[in-house]
Amino acid sequence: MSNVKVAVIFYSMGGTNYQLSKWAEEGAAEAGAEVRVLKVQELAPQSVIENNEGWKATVESTKDIPVATSEDLEWADAIIFSVPTRFGNMASQMKQFLDTQGGLWASGKTVNKVVSAMTSAQNPHGGQEATLLSLYTSMMHWGAIIVTPGYTDPVLFGAGGNPYGTSVTVGQDGQMVEDVQAAVKYQAKRTVQVAEWVTQGNQ
Ligand SMILES: Cc1cc2nc3c(=O)[nH]c(=O)nc-3n(C[C@H](O)[C@H](O)[C@H](O)COP(=O)(O)O)c2cc1C
Repeated sequence: MSNVKVAVIFYSMGGTNYQLSKWAEEGAAEAGAEVRVLKVQELAPQSVIENNEGWKATVESTKDIPVATSEDLEWADAIIFSVPTRFGNMASQMKQFLDTQGGLWASGKTVNKVVSAMTSAQNPHGGQEATLLSLYTSMMHWGAIIVTPGYTDPVLFGAGGNPYGTSVTVGQDGQMVEDVQAAVKYQAKRTVQVAEWVTQGNQ
């Protein structure tokens, strides 16, 4: 049993990043961590969401998931982000969440958070790495400790071998193309492991 506390924070319009988050939750829990799965605040107008069946279904299936707050970030030793690629960048809902953490950042409470990120995109080369890098850029400003999968385990090759963080292609039908479940769980476990090292070394 680890004493590590993990926040898995996602944005999802079509359900992919919600599923990735649930797998990350499983992986982190199997590693002994205490886990909170949290969504970021939706910002799109209700009138837009209502006209999109998939989006509406995701809002419905995630309605009981709490919206992430600064308190959750303060609580967590480790944070795993999951966010869709939007024009080669993170979805604005996630950016807004990061941009509302100025107070937490100013009080030094983002320092030494162990962080890792996952993403999805419609195309195999649709900007996955750029999305992860954009999130990791903000994490450098937070003084966070970025944990990437690299090529530290063979399971990563079966998931497309993205060393920045697990990424998956989502077809027009909304289904994931690669089988990334094992890679997500591995990434979560590795994040917990590093968070254990950091928290134990910091006592
Ligand atoms: C506004 C918008 C921009 C997008 N930009 C890209 C892109 O640059 N590259 C790409 O491959 N897919 C792009 N997509 C597809 C999304 O990445 C894809 O729908 C998402 O990863 C699915 O995740 P979700 O099911 O969690 O919402 C875009 C989708 C939207 C709505």
